[in-house]
Amino acid sequence: MHRIISHDEAVHAALTECSQDPTAPKGMEFHHAKEGRPLSTPWQVATIRSLMLTETNLAEGWLLDCACGSGIQLIAHASVLNRNAVGIELDEERAIASAMNFLTVAQHQDAATLPWFAQSRILVGDGTDAAGAMEALGQENEAGIALLHIDPARPRNSRTHDLSEMQPPLDQVFQAWAPYFSEHEKGPALLLDLSPRLTNEQRMEVEALVDAVWPQLRRTWVWTSRGRGRVDRLALWLGAAALGSDLRRFVRVPPQLGDGALVISSTDDGSSLECLFHPPKRGEYVSILDAALIESGLAESWLSEVSTEVMTRWAVIEGRRPQLHHLSPLRLSQADNLLVQATGKVVELLSFDLDDSTVDQVVEAALENNMASVKIRMDTPPEKQPRWQGSLDRQLARRHGTKEGFLVRHPGRDVLLLCVCHSESF
Ligand SMILES: C[S@@+](CC[C@H](N)C(=O)[O-])C[C@H]1O[C@@H](n2cnc3c(N)ncnc32)[C@H](O)[C@@H]1O
Repeated sequence: MHRIISHDEAVHAALTECSQDPTAPKGMEFHHAKEGRPLSTPWQVATIRSLMLTETNLAEGWLLDCACGSGIQLIAHASVLNRNAVGIELDEERAIASAMNFLTVAQHQDAATLPWFAQSRILVGDGTDAAGAMEALGQENEAGIALLHIDPARPRNSRTHDLSEMQPPLDQVFQAWAPYFSEHEKGPALLLDLSPRLTNEQRMEVEALVDAVWPQLRRTWVWTSRGRGRVDRLALWLGAAALGSDLRRFVRVPPQLGDGALVISSTDDGSSLECLFHPPKRGEYVSILDAALIESGLAESWLSEVSTEVMTRWAVIEGRRPQLHHLSPLRLSQADNLLVQATGKVVELLSFDLDDSTVDQVVEAALENNMASVKIRMDTPPEKQPRWQGSLDRQLARRHGTKEGFLVRHPGRDVLLLCVCHSESF
């Protein structure tokens, strides 16, 4: 049985979890319940995603989130597209928090009379019982589903990210809602918000679940990162919600709220990178790129925008510091800099590893190359790194170098590459 949560019920409920999402406008405080806050989508990420939906042409009908948690993503979709939405949540208190959050955003945006607020509904109930939910919506259920968004709950400490851990299960959701979608030439519109840790095999499993209900649906995989080399969100946009002819997208959320996201797209399915050993060379360029970009499989698409060179000389592709060697500098816009940890020209090959006794030799080499700073950009024992970096900083600050630089380890050999930062801007 589903029940609609009224605004009155939400306002009078004693919700205690309330906090300012640091990515939402000041004063727009969201309610949560049963520790729902860490499950909720940050407002900035949610709105970037909803803005991408404006690229699509959805059918008439409801925007549905059938496991809406605190409702943040659904509210972003509804308010950005100005469309009526329905959220379903199994947990009554979270459903009430969702209804309260709709009210909060509507008040903040002075939108009480707009359809996205006035005609939206929050239901408490099971998101896999489509018939029950449509019945609870009563007369309103004549409209079909324009978009199904689903961000299933997952165990917090999951190691395997197995699809069977998702609640509600994707296959049950697909089967339940399939009869209720509005007609669209591109098929139903679905947005599956999945664990960012899914392996390629698990991604294929998700595709197989979709194919079992809707074979041949268009699809765009979207990796979203908020920095620090991590993929924060992995989503599959399907059918009428697929993003043009893009098969893959990487979205870097900007550090400044209000700035546009950096988007890299590809119409092919991404090729896997391979490490290629080559001897260390003075005068070539080394770039340490964003690990999340590599994980998305879109590094080559991005590189083709910032260089005319065919980039094949990957020295490291795993881990936090993917390392690429190349012959000429990258041409980077300000936004591109978000995808580069360091880039520069190799000025010295140092045939030793970094330790307590060799830090001074790095300082000497840096001074010979007129450097004012050298950042360590390679794996070092965590307990030693601050001491070595501190020593480099102190010793170089006392001298009169002018150039910024960094230090990496050439893979496969005990050679350090001392590099001077360099890129060309445009
Ligand atoms: C990850 S949260 C969704 C967060 C949401 N996207 C947001 O932005 O706030 C997943 C939610 O699914 C709910 N859930 C799990 N099984 C469900 C079911 N069968 N029907 C409806 N909701 C369900 C959980 O209670 C949880 O609140």
